[in-house]
Amino acid sequence: MGRGGGPGGRGGGRRDPRQAMEDMNYKFNPQVFGRIFTYMKGKYILMTLFVFFTIVANTYCRLRGTWFTGQLIDNYIAKKDLAGLPHAMIEIVIIHLAEILIQLSQQLVMNRLTQGITKDIRDDLFTKMQSLPIKYFDQHSTGNIMSRFTNDVDTVSRVIQSTLTQVFSTLLTLFSVLGSMLVISIPLTGMVFVFVILMGVFSTKIGGKSARYFFGRQIAVGNVNGYIEEHVTGQKVVKVFNYEERAKKEFDKENTELFRVSDKANLFSNILMPINGLLGNIQYIVLALLGAIMAIKGGSFNFTIAGRHVLQLGELITFLSLSRQFTMPLTQISMQVNTVVQSMAGAQRIFTIMDEKPEEDDGKITLVNVTKAEDGTLTECAERTEHWAWKIPNEDGTVELRELKGDIKLNNVYFGYDPEKTVLHDISIYAKPGQKIALVGATGAGKTTITNLINRFYDIQSGEILYDGINIKNIKKKDLRGSMSIVLQDTDLFTGTVMENIRYGKLDATDEECIEAAKIANAHGFIERLTDGYDTMLDSNGTNLSQGQRQLLTIARAAVADPPVMILDEATSSIDTRTEALVQSGMDRLMEGRTVFVIAHRLSTVQNSDAIMVIDQGKIIERGDHNTLIDQKGVYYQLYTGAFELE
Ligand SMILES: Nc1ncnc2c1ncn2[C@@H]1O[C@H](COP(=O)(O)OP(=O)(O)O)[C@@H](O)[C@H]1O
Ligand SMILES: [Mg+2]
Repeated sequence: MGRGGGPGGRGGGRRDPRQAMEDMNYKFNPQVFGRIFTYMKGKYILMTLFVFFTIVANTYCRLRGTWFTGQLIDNYIAKKDLAGLPHAMIEIVIIHLAEILIQLSQQLVMNRLTQGITKDIRDDLFTKMQSLPIKYFDQHSTGNIMSRFTNDVDTVSRVIQSTLTQVFSTLLTLFSVLGSMLVISIPLTGMVFVFVILMGVFSTKIGGKSARYFFGRQIAVGNVNGYIEEHVTGQKVVKVFNYEERAKKEFDKENTELFRVSDKANLFSNILMPINGLLGNIQYIVLALLGAIMAIKGGSFNFTIAGRHVLQLGELITFLSLSRQFTMPLTQISMQVNTVVQSMAGAQRIFTIMDEKPEEDDGKITLVNVTKAEDGTLTECAERTEHWAWKIPNEDGTVELRELKGDIKLNNVYFGYDPEKTVLHDISIYAKPGQKIALVGATGAGKTTITNLINRFYDIQSGEILYDGINIKNIKKKDLRGSMSIVLQDTDLFTGTVMENIRYGKLDATDEECIEAAKIANAHGFIERLTDGYDTMLDSNGTNLSQGQRQLLTIARAAVADPPVMILDEATSSIDTRTEALVQSGMDRLMEGRTVFVIAHRLSTVQNSDAIMVIDQGKIIERGDHNTLIDQKGVYYQLYTGAFELE
C-alpha cells in the first residue's frame, strides 16, 4: 500500500489509470509479431529453423500415415499381394517411429527456444527499466511494472508456442490435406467446402463474442492482481484498521467480475467446439454416403476417368479420414488466432516499455579522480585519491579540470512535475562548499522536489542550477549523482548482509571503511548486537530491523560513499532524539568541508545550519541562520516557539 495509501485512501496504485487507458486503447499491432521474430532470428535461428523443419516433417508423417490404410486396401488387399505386405508394414513402422522422434525433439527444442527468448526479454526489460527516468516510476505503479516481468513475459512465450507450432502447423496441415483430397476426388472436396463455409460462419460469430470477453478477462486479472498486491504489502494497515471484512468484500467483487468474464469467454469458445463437432459428424456421414455411391457406381459400371476408377474403396477410406483432419484444424485456427491476438496484447505491453524514452543524458562533463600538487594544479589519475575534478571538454579540444568542491547554486528555479502546474517558484539557494543548508516547511511545501532537481531526477523549467559554477545540465547524470549521496526517508535496503548493504554506497569499500561509516552513522552499536553482527542477513527490505535501525543503515551507506555533497531528506525522522543528535554530530564531522542539504522535521536538528530556508507552497519565504530568523520573529520563529505546527 506504500505511501499514503491506507485502506481509506483506496485506489492509489491499484487501478493504474494509465494502464487502464492503455488497455482500453489496445489495438492489435502486427509489428509486435515482427519484434518477437527478431528475438527468434538472433542466436536462436538454428533452433527456430529446426522447429519449422520438425513441423513440416511431422505433417508429412501424419499424412503418410493417413494414406496408409487406403493403400493397404487398394494395393495389397484388393490385389491379393501377400508378398508385398511386409514391405508396406516396415515402411509404416518406420514412419510412426520417425513421427514420435520428431515430436519429441520438437518439444525439447521448442521448450529451450521459448525459455531462452523469455529469459532474453526479461534481461532486456530489466536493463531497460534501469535506464528509465524516475518520472516513469512516479507515474506507474509497482504492480504494473512487476506484471510486465511476470504475466506479460509469459504471454510472449505463449505467442511463440501458439503461432509457431500451432498456427504454422495447422496451416501446413490444411494445405497438404487439401492437396491430398483434391488428388482423390474433386467433387467430394467440393462437398467438404460447403461444410467449411458453414463452420466458418459459426466460428466468426461466436469467436468474435469470445474475443471481447477474453479481453475483459485480461483487465479483470490485472485488477485482481493489483488488489492482492496492495493488500499483501498493506496487511499491517488492514489489520490495524480492522479492514479485513471490507477488504474481503471488495476483493470478492473484483474476483466475481473475473469469474464472470472468464466464464463468458470460455463459454463461447466451449460452445463452438461441440457445434463444429456436430457439423463435422454430419459432414462425415454425407461424405460417406456420397463416396459409397461413387465407389459402388464406379465399380459396377467400371466407370473410369483417364483409365482410373472414379473412387476406389481404399481412397474413400483415406478421404474420409482426410476430411476429418481438414475440418479439425479449421475449427482450431480461429481459436488459435484468438489466443495469438490475446497474447500479443501482453507482448505489446512489454515493447511499450522497451520503447519508453530512456533517461536522456547529453552531459559531456565527467567526474575524474585527480591528484593535487602543492601549487594546486590538478592531474587526472585512475586510482581513488579523495580528490575529484570536473573534466570539462572545451570547444577547441582542450580539457579543463575544475576541482570538485560542492558549491551549489540554484538561481531563480521554476519547476512543476506537470509543466502546467508550477510547484516551485523562483527558488534561489546558495550553498558554499562545506555549508549546511536546511530546508524546512510543511509537508508538500516542495522540499523533496528541490532535492529531486539537484540530482536531476527531474529537469527544471527555467532558471539554472550551478555546481562548482557548471550548469548541471552539462554534467553527465551518472557523475553528477556519483558526487552526492542521498538519504531518503524511505529506507530501501536490498536482500543481503548488513555489510553488503553498507558497501552499496561504495562497491570497493573495505570492511574497515564500512564499519567506520557505521560508527559515524551511530549504527555500529546495534549492528554488533545483531545475532551475526555485520554478517546478519537482511530479508526483504530489512523487515527484521526497526525503522530507525534501517535509517541508520542507509545513513551508513551514504557515509561510506564519502561524497562531497550529501542530501538528507527526513533521514532521521524515525530515530529517537538522542540517537538523532549522535548521528547529527557524526554527520557533521563527516561532512566537514562538504555541502549538506538537510530536510528535517525537528527544528532542533537544523539549528546549527549555516542557512535555513523556510519553504511554503513552493516559495522561499524566509532565509538566514537560526539566530537571524529568530530575531526576525517571522514564520520560523513561530515554528520554533511552537506557535505554529509543521504539517
Ligand atoms: N512525482 C510527483 N508528481 C507530481 N507531483 C508531485 C510529485 N512529487 C511531489 N509532487 C507535488 O509537489 C509538491 C511538493 O512535494 P514535495 O516536494 O514532495 O513536498 P515536501 O517534500 O516538502 O513534503 C506537492 O504538492 C506534491 O503533491
Ligand atoms: Mg518530502
